Amino acid sequence: MKILVINGPNLNMLGIREPGIYGAENYEALCEKVRTYAREKGMDVELYQSNHEGDLVDRIQQAYGSTDGIVINPGAYTHTSIALLDALKAVSIPAVEVHISDVSSREEFRQISYIRAACIATISGHGLNGYLEAMEQLRKEAGK
Ligand code: DQA
Repeated sequence: MKILVINGPNLNMLGIREPGIYGAENYEALCEKVRTYAREKGMDVELYQSNHEGDLVDRIQQAYGSTDGIVINPGAYTHTSIALLDALKAVSIPAVEVHISDVSSREEFRQISYIRAACIATISGHGLNGYLEAMEQLRKEAGK
């Protein structure tokens, strides 16, 4: 099965940005973890990161017809973007929302997730392992 792992704004700054919240590992380390897990489970994986909302919409649209599952951490766009919600709904690809931090215990403005309505599950506060849990969830969902 083919999985697309999408990261939104500032996730390229992992390891530098607020390490007390997001941990000390950088974006490349996250990519390596995801690739290793995919290899172990016999999944095909592609990673994409952008700081730009329209680019994220474009990448979701490109996945149409060629991807079995999406793992998405939209960063701050989680709390603002109807465009990402609409893109996920448009392609109808099973998606899991991931947050490295536990957004439910943070500021009020992080309590809203627009994309949640287009996702089969949300994993929040499990650090980088959350991405692997999301991949596992999609694998189970696909029965593969
Ligand atoms: C985040 C949580 C968001 O509120 C924040 O804007 C991020 C990262 C997380 O992974 O915990 O950029 O999605």
